[in-house]
Amino acid sequence: MSTPLQGAELAAAITTSVERLKSAFGEHAPDVAVVLGSGWAGAVDQLHEVQNLAYAELPAFPQPKVEGHVAEIAVGRVGQQRVAMLRGRAHTYESGDCTGMAGAIRSLKAWGVKVLVLTNASGSLRSHQPPGSLMLISDHINAPQRSPLTGMSGSDRFCDLSVAYDKELRQQGFKVAQQHNMVLTEGVYVWAVGPHFETPAEIRMFAAWGADAVGMSTVPETILARHAGLRVAGLALITNMAAGMSDEALTHALTLQQAKLSGERAAAFLGQYLASLATLESLKD
Ligand code: HPA
Repeated sequence: MSTPLQGAELAAAITTSVERLKSAFGEHAPDVAVVLGSGWAGAVDQLHEVQNLAYAELPAFPQPKVEGHVAEIAVGRVGQQRVAMLRGRAHTYESGDCTGMAGAIRSLKAWGVKVLVLTNASGSLRSHQPPGSLMLISDHINAPQRSPLTGMSGSDRFCDLSVAYDKELRQQGFKVAQQHNMVLTEGVYVWAVGPHFETPAEIRMFAAWGADAVGMSTVPETILARHAGLRVAGLALITNMAAGMSDEALTHALTLQQAKLSGERAAAFLGQYLASLATLESLKD
């Protein structure tokens, strides 16, 4: 993804993006949007009556540098719930800039989206969460202590993160897991910028801090979404035991392989979860 826009350029890009979202998918935004992370891509197959728009048409969205990478938004229904799925995200490790998702998230909010579901692939810090596990994010640790709101003005930049991951959306996750007899753990996600994996000493420190899973995304997006006034849910697919917790060397290929193995189950759960959101009173207009 290319270097993110800032300031007036970003504001103009958001205005254009919202106009294009409205003309492609309608004035009325879906209540729910999802960022599909590694392992979760198959969830697009759960959408029916689907329409797509390339990020190339949406100047506030992250623009892919590599041709052939999926970078588009797909809007459709999962059961009764209308959902926008973001296929492709900007990671801080690509540019060093943690604001890469600011334009996309603010465009979704300006269009009228209310809930943002963030999904990712993570390493596990706990033996009760082996590869293949699904973890609902209860809270996060911003280990690098970097904020995508740095440099902003206005008192709303001092945004409250004491309940960053919405309580009702979390409860809904456990309801759905129970209904479908699936094991869903709950835990704290710690952000490491990457793109290198962590050292075993770092993982021991994160575990002592109370982290349960580690990954290279999600945290800046949660901060941006909370600042924008969106409700947030987070789901992690565990692709590996974190550094030093197993004899296996960590490689991107290993995480992708596990993401592929468990992706179908993750996508199925995400579909059931999204469909269930149609029953929430708090999302009824
Ligand atoms: N560390 C950081 N990010 C990750 C990992 C990990 O072990 N697995 C998948 N994403």
